[in-house]
Amino acid sequence: MGYPTVRLRRLRVNEAVRRLVRETELHPRQFLWPVFVVPGRGVREEVAAMPGVYRYSADVLVEEVGRNAELGLGGLLVFGVPSHKDEAASEAYADEGVVQRAVRALKAAFPELLVATDVCLCAYTSHGHCGVVKGGKILNDPSLELLARTAVSHARAGADVVAPSDMMDGRVGAVRRALDQAGFTETLVMSYAAKYASAFYGPFREAAESAPQFGDRRTHQMDPPNAREALREVALDLEEGADVVMVKPALAYLDVIRRVREAFDCPVAAYSVSGEYSMIKAAAGRGWLDERKIVLEVTTAIRRAGADVIITYYAPLLARWLREDPTC
Ligand code: PBG
Repeated sequence: MGYPTVRLRRLRVNEAVRRLVRETELHPRQFLWPVFVVPGRGVREEVAAMPGVYRYSADVLVEEVGRNAELGLGGLLVFGVPSHKDEAASEAYADEGVVQRAVRALKAAFPELLVATDVCLCAYTSHGHCGVVKGGKILNDPSLELLARTAVSHARAGADVVAPSDMMDGRVGAVRRALDQAGFTETLVMSYAAKYASAFYGPFREAAESAPQFGDRRTHQMDPPNAREALREVALDLEEGADVVMVKPALAYLDVIRRVREAFDCPVAAYSVSGEYSMIKAAAGRGWLDERKIVLEVTTAIRRAGADVIITYYAPLLARWLREDPTC
């Protein structure tokens, strides 16, 4: 039986029917809001390539989070922009480091707020690489110890979730063991499991001052043409103890999100990265796209692909739009 008995347009006849049969829904609890924190007090500086995204000092960040508290966001993902960089990335794991201070301030002000932290060395090393560099190479195993120390110091400051984004082999296991040894058995690990060497990170590197001074990240981040390999990355991270696995970027990798969703039963996160944000902002700023409609469509697509958690710079704005119209 087909047309004319079957008419799929009946399912779209008006908004009442459309919302009844809608398959995918967005809710602010699914969103993690990435924030950049800098040293000092009273700092609020806009990121040039990301209009509407700011770098805050911890005190201003606490105020901003307070202003958005009623939105019911899933939580924050904190990135540090330190004042001091060296070969050993020492501020990454310093108790008085920029992230550690910010996390303590956030948890003191909002004990119930879920705080996740990015664990990587690239913003803390003088050369801008995600690990220890010797002879022009990024060394895997010596980097693990520094990453594990960083994760433990974030947990000690009060982070609920640590998110290793460095793509070194074995880092999830190293982080999990170090957390457990330090008594942080309840701290979650959200691994950037399938993180691609992507040009979409361009604006972030300006925001985080984390661009590599030489070379690139292609010896550790994944090669964009590969999808099966993403499943191997995810499987290894789960074996090593990851609680949540992430695919990053999101929009150009919806197929990878879908495959990870179908292959594993763990929570899946997707990171809609800086370049995805900036592309929409730039086009919307020129009046070429309807920002609200595009952001809702793209974020819904990421969820439809299978993401449980969506990391997006649009989190507060999305939550406001959803509050105005929960069916959108
Ligand atoms: C740190 C890190 C990066 C991003 C998140 N964590 C940049 C990179 O790998 O160079 C990118 C986030 C974004 O573009 O929004 N390694």
